Amino acid sequence: VASHETIELHVNGTIAHVRVDPETPLIYVLRNDLQLKGARFGCGVGMCGACTVLVDGRAVESCDVPTGSVAGRSITTIEGLARENELHPLQEAFLEEQAGQCGYCLSGILMATVALLEADASPSEAAIREALDGHLCRCGAHARILRAICRVAAAGQLAHG
Ligand code: FES
Ligand code: FES
Repeated sequence: VASHETIELHVNGTIAHVRVDPETPLIYVLRNDLQLKGARFGCGVGMCGACTVLVDGRAVESCDVPTGSVAGRSITTIEGLARENELHPLQEAFLEEQAGQCGYCLSGILMATVALLEADASPSEAAIREALDGHLCRCGAHARILRAICRVAAAGQLAHG
């Protein structure tokens, strides 16, 4: 029988309290309780990357993370990427390269790439491919996505690091 608890979540620099079963996958709480709809629900079993967010700077699949396990930890979603009116350099590069079609995969890919670039501001193309290996893009926009990321990586440009 599910028992609900009050859980403190630190999301995008703000503190929220939610009352949920601690086993609830984080993506449901982000989307339904906190109205952060950027993380997308794809497969629901940790296989597509659409739901990726950062927890303490690491990319995790939020469909596969119990909300109770991230209480008090620093969670960043795509909504927390831009600062005031300034897009993150990766978002700018994705726009410039028109990297995407329907966009469903993009928030997960962006978050995974942020984690990669924070660990290594100038990763090789091979390292980028490896980091994004688990991210599906059903539109086949991979080439443009890779071009956008390589543009930022080549510049060693991570302004918000
Ligand atoms: S929805 Fe989480 S990995 Fe697919
Ligand atoms: S742009 Fe449509 S799934 Fe990637």
